[in-house]
Amino acid sequence: MYDLTPEDLERLPRHVAVIMDGNGRWARSRGKPRLFGHRNGVENVKSVVNTAFEIGIPYVTLYAFSTENQNRPGEEKSGLMRLLQEFLKRELKTMMGDEVRLRAIGDLNGLPEFARNAVMETIEKTKANKKWNLTLALNYGSRQEILQAVQSYARKTNGMEDDLNWETFSNYLQTRELPDPDLIIRTSGEFRLSNFLLLQAAYAEIFVSPLHWPDFGKVAFVDALKNYTHRERRFGKTGDQLATASTNLLPENS
Ligand code: IPE
Ligand code: IPE
Ligand code: MG
Repeated sequence: MYDLTPEDLERLPRHVAVIMDGNGRWARSRGKPRLFGHRNGVENVKSVVNTAFEIGIPYVTLYAFSTENQNRPGEEKSGLMRLLQEFLKRELKTMMGDEVRLRAIGDLNGLPEFARNAVMETIEKTKANKKWNLTLALNYGSRQEILQAVQSYARKTNGMEDDLNWETFSNYLQTRELPDPDLIIRTSGEFRLSNFLLLQAAYAEIFVSPLHWPDFGKVAFVDALKNYTHRERRFGKTGDQLATASTNLLPENS
């Protein structure tokens, strides 16, 4: 169905995270308001997420709204929140039918009440779905997430623990239920992470597409996957070491 060989299918990422950028530029190039771009961006979310699950990628995470996006004009922010609410309402049936579990990372308290409620209700309704995992980063900032993790760790251990390791610490991050992203896709040609999953991305492969998010459809997504399957993930080892191992496994101490 998609242009992926059996070898590609064996090397697919388990977790793809997407920085959906360029809705504004996409709209501007058509002489339309930014929200028109966001609306088309949401349409594209459905198509890319469906494709990912159809292909068999169990975890998809989407950067939908950053903490820094709070500095955008009020009208744009409320438009985005309405689109989020509509999206969740319209997609619930599909999520239930396809067994998709919704999660959110980010500070939901910073969302307007109607949007927060829509997110929390969908999380609650889909929480028994086991097959596919869709995570929305909403009012998310990696630095804020890390600070909050440090604070709750310190509270919990009373500052007494002195053998902190990554495995323990990562349980305090909001992504605790998710594997690290294997592939991070950013659209619209920007080569930066913009405060997204900074620690979790330690060994992620990064793919930047020149296309604006509303134009980054199924075909472009599958091309990004194909590109990923041809990469060698070394995790600090040498290429020779990997050639003798059968799979690219994470080192034991990661
Ligand atoms: C969408 O793209 C991502 C969001 C922050 C909602 P942008 O709105 O950042 O579009 P550009 O970068 O201005 O083109
Ligand atoms: C990153 O895009 C945030 C989201 C995609 C939600 P931005 O458009 O906010 O990033 P910068 O400001 O160009 O770095
Ligand atoms: Mg942008």
